[in-house]
Amino acid sequence: MTTTGLSPHALLLKYDQPVPRYTSYPTAAAFTDAVGEEQLRVQLQQPSDAPLSLYVHVPFCRHACWYCGCNRVTTQLGSKVVAPYLATLARELELVGAALPARRRLAQLHWGGGTPNYLNRAEIRQLWELIARHFDLAPNLEASIEVNPEGLSRDQALELRQLGFNRISFGIQDANPEVQRAVNRVVPAQQLRHAMDWLREAAFDSVNVDLICGLPLQTPERFNATLELVGELRPDRISLFSFAYLPEQLPLQRKIAAADLPSQQERIRMLETANQQLTAQGYAAIGMDHYALASDGLAVAAREGRLHRNFQDYTTGGELDLLGIGPTAISQFPHLFAQNQRDLRAWREAVEAGRLPVERGLVVRDPEVLERRQLIQQVMCQFQVELHLGRFAREWADLQALATDGLVELQRLGHEHGHIRVTTAGRWLIRSIAAVSDPQQRLQARGSRLV
Ligand SMILES: C[S@@+](CC[C@H](N)C(=O)[O-])C[C@H]1O[C@@H](n2cnc3c(N)ncnc32)[C@H](O)[C@@H]1O
Ligand code: SF4
Repeated sequence: MTTTGLSPHALLLKYDQPVPRYTSYPTAAAFTDAVGEEQLRVQLQQPSDAPLSLYVHVPFCRHACWYCGCNRVTTQLGSKVVAPYLATLARELELVGAALPARRRLAQLHWGGGTPNYLNRAEIRQLWELIARHFDLAPNLEASIEVNPEGLSRDQALELRQLGFNRISFGIQDANPEVQRAVNRVVPAQQLRHAMDWLREAAFDSVNVDLICGLPLQTPERFNATLELVGELRPDRISLFSFAYLPEQLPLQRKIAAADLPSQQERIRMLETANQQLTAQGYAAIGMDHYALASDGLAVAAREGRLHRNFQDYTTGGELDLLGIGPTAISQFPHLFAQNQRDLRAWREAVEAGRLPVERGLVVRDPEVLERRQLIQQVMCQFQVELHLGRFAREWADLQALATDGLVELQRLGHEHGHIRVTTAGRWLIRSIAAVSDPQQRLQARGSRLV
């Protein structure tokens, strides 16, 4: 087939629609309060000796970065808020442990936030031990933690590694001082270099950095300088997010003037340059938002078709059931999603009353929805999929336009099936390709814009 030969720039412009990140299908937008603690309890009571993935949410931050869309609480109170928080987490773990018919093994553990390294040394150890009291930690446990480099010290880096964390992620966002001031997150380049040195000294298996494209006062030149610094730090993985600017929903973002944001053309230029620079520096594009060094586990898993996706984004650990604790945390099973109370107080009150603190969720049993989930997962993770032409005729028809733009290659397999392969250009627009199998997107485009 001849393709339109559109440049990456033109393709981003053309496909720049709100699209979900498909960390799950159906997405969290479909959750309702028809799911509560009862459904989670019944799920937990199912006997299983499969290992689990555990997510622990630590919502505290020392100060508020104005762009931030994460669920977090800004406080200077330190241990005064952390001690009661850990006590409630301990109680939640007891409730979960009581619902499980037998002790389970953890193959993956992730602490996210907020800022998990808001906790001091003793508190971090206390939380780790709390988890180890309720679960068996697999000898090859993949344990990851998100940290803010501002508060990171050499001692903390070494201690985290010694405790058992082997993967770590920290936010850079943008290294330019003016951009940093415009988002109230000033972390000098020297501190970022120190942070990376300490993490390397501690010998983490994988270090990820987060970047955001589209921040106020960001320009292609300034972002280039950030990319150069990233090249010097050489993390194993890079998450490159497009700034989700939603001032109506996130009051703190109103401190950012829309007039200070780079234009869509500039953002596209920055994403395009990032893609070129990172690829030239030896990074493989995993999906639009993710890059990894060829030697990193994520790139290896992508090459070997072993990538998976859950609420923590791309993972290498197979499709493990995911259990989430702490406010907003999501638990994910093949037929059930259950999200904890998003409000800190509501979460604490539910736990103190002895209830699993579920606020909402979704039961997924419809075979067609499960099949669509499979299609979306395979597109996002294996970059190829087969579909039934009779049952997915509309999708196959929609894919023709994407093939013309060079995002996918299509091949008929006999009369009944079609094969889709995502091209290198298509990896970038992977969410738009996955969205073809999502009927909700056809009715109403929702999610975050690509650019
Ligand atoms: C929980 S935070 C990272 C950990 C740590 N608190 C830090 O500040 O480095 C997760 C990441 O989400 C991304 N993020 C937060 N708000 C965002 C937004 N509005 N648009 C795009 N990315 C965002 C940032 O890159 C951030 O590093
Ligand atoms: S980016 Fe990190 S430190 Fe900043 S407000 Fe968000 S969670 Fe907190």
